[in-house]
Amino acid sequence: MEIKVVQDTKSIESDILVASMFENEKTVIELANKYAVEQDNFKGKFGETYLLPTYGKEVYKKVLILGLGKKEEFNPNKMREAVAKAIKKAMQMEAKKVAFSLDGIEFDYSEQFAMGAFIADYSFDKYKSEKKDNKVQEVYVQANADTVKKAEKIAAAMTFARNLANEPAQFATPTELANIACDFGLDTVVYGKEECEKMGMGAFLAVAKGSSQEPKFIHMKYQVDNPKKRIAIIGKGITFDSGGLDIKPPSSMLTMKDDMSAAACVLGIMSIIREFHPQVEVHGIIAACENMPGCSAYKPGDILTAKNGKTIEVDNTDAEGRLTLADALCYACELGVDEVIDLATLTGACMVALGTNAAGIMGNDETLVQNLISTAQRNGERFWELPLWEEYFDSLKSDIADMKNTGSRWGGASTAGVFLQKFVKDVKWAHIDIAGVAFLEKPQKEFIKGATGAGVRTLLNYILEQ
Ligand code: BES
Ligand code: MN
Ligand code: ZN
Repeated sequence: MEIKVVQDTKSIESDILVASMFENEKTVIELANKYAVEQDNFKGKFGETYLLPTYGKEVYKKVLILGLGKKEEFNPNKMREAVAKAIKKAMQMEAKKVAFSLDGIEFDYSEQFAMGAFIADYSFDKYKSEKKDNKVQEVYVQANADTVKKAEKIAAAMTFARNLANEPAQFATPTELANIACDFGLDTVVYGKEECEKMGMGAFLAVAKGSSQEPKFIHMKYQVDNPKKRIAIIGKGITFDSGGLDIKPPSSMLTMKDDMSAAACVLGIMSIIREFHPQVEVHGIIAACENMPGCSAYKPGDILTAKNGKTIEVDNTDAEGRLTLADALCYACELGVDEVIDLATLTGACMVALGTNAAGIMGNDETLVQNLISTAQRNGERFWELPLWEEYFDSLKSDIADMKNTGSRWGGASTAGVFLQKFVKDVKWAHIDIAGVAFLEKPQKEFIKGATGAGVRTLLNYILEQ
């Protein structure tokens, strides 16, 4: 799909002209006002649409009236959702050229307009032998061309992340993630099993033991002279989470190819970062492996030593993400960066607490956490702060090691958070639990089922705003 910025969208020969309408107001298309508003009492409630043919009397074949809801309640996030709705309708109708006539909107909608169109345009049909030919090819709109270009790049990073997280675990292996990381033209190092052993990554390597796939520790660097800030972003990269010996029931395992969604997010960001040339140093870090119950698998009761020397008693092999992140956090803290941000599909508990519309965020620096929350809000994602009180560590106490990897069932997202904090040293840190938002089991707002590219929009914008 291509978005073309033009002055007069009504004079474009299009399959559909999408005309916006605020609730109980009118459109700029007389035909629409006459039939939809006057005769049919169409109100223009948010997300409502009304289709009208033009019988060859206009350059556009049809008019799709797009309800934007009450004018005083309209905002950029609603813009994105509404556009997505129109694009999906256009796809159903197999329209190829869609022009938008957006009237009376009092803010610059360019960015969220483009994001909505690109997000809705997504499909994952690479393994279908018959592909649907329902993609919109050209979208015409009056908007800021530079902003549309920026959105196009961010959307491309999201699509990259979504494709990777939708990819079956048989293909998206740790080695494959490492190969992908090496293709970005960044300064990238990949450490194999032996090198990770030398670095003392006993927690990460334990998780990998039950799989025939070799673990890969991936470190991508985007560097600039005199950076304004140095940031490390870590993405949980479990390419499949069977639970290990504490094996998951089938229904819980079904979506576990998505347990590298955070790694996909980091790869999405690093795939495009050079095109933005931000004046920030960005490290992308992924400890990639599979969590499998093979004959060499790590076991409940094992004691692991993480990179910082701390010992962990394995209480549950299904709490593997925090083990891989423990070593990744130690590694990141040694880089001398200003901020470390980790993302992870970490806990079912976070999903229970916040549902599928919001990620949980925790951290040791309230300014960093609040900045990320507001960047998310402005860019169509929701982050919600969860507590990191030291009391959550009580249930992680071990009789024979420094800590256990799981504890009480209650407050599971925060318990995981305080576990991670034990591996963070002398740096501003935020942890984002994307378990609920990374992979949808049914369509939601502008997204189809499957991977959402969670975190990409927020973190890229966060980097660009430094
Ligand atoms: N990858 C899962 C978390 C998850 C659950 C992500 C559902 C997305 C959807 C994680 O590794 C896990 O298994 N967590 C356990 C932790 C428990 C054993 C303390 C969980 O949440 O049940
Ligand atoms: Mn698990
Ligand atoms: Zn997991």
